[in-house]
Amino acid sequence: MNTNKLLGVGEVAQRSGVAVSTLHFYESKGLIQSSRNTGNQRRYHRSVLRRIAIIRIAQRAGISLAMIKEHLDTLPQSKITAEEWRVLSFEWHVMLNDRINNLLQLRDQMEGCIGCGCLSLEECPLRNPDDVVAEQGPGAQLLKDVSI
Ligand code: FES
Repeated sequence: MNTNKLLGVGEVAQRSGVAVSTLHFYESKGLIQSSRNTGNQRRYHRSVLRRIAIIRIAQRAGISLAMIKEHLDTLPQSKITAEEWRVLSFEWHVMLNDRINNLLQLRDQMEGCIGCGCLSLEECPLRNPDDVVAEQGPGAQLLKDVSI
């Protein structure tokens, strides 16, 4: 098999299961790259298939395209090796665990709000998680830095 063969956008779409429009979108966001042939048609190195697979996995995990790009930018455009994917998937695994834990905490805090409706700064854990407003001093405080 010739591993240096370049693929047309239709072939990449078919082999990756991703729509041509999505491939164009990924390219516009800098997630994948192509070259142009003499007829000005996009041509992709076959290694793009592995990159697209990683992008799709990350999207399924709810990782933003900006973060995907940030991570992929640390890797070469050529084939992403198994070791590079191992490192990347470990980083994303840690990040997903953090998100899951935050969501579980949010879900548990929300239980107290069901049927309440107070949205009180003093009482509602979603308005004032960990009572951070109290740490900002007396009087009215903005909640702009409070994330839930
Ligand atoms: S709305 Fe009352 S505790 Fe959250």
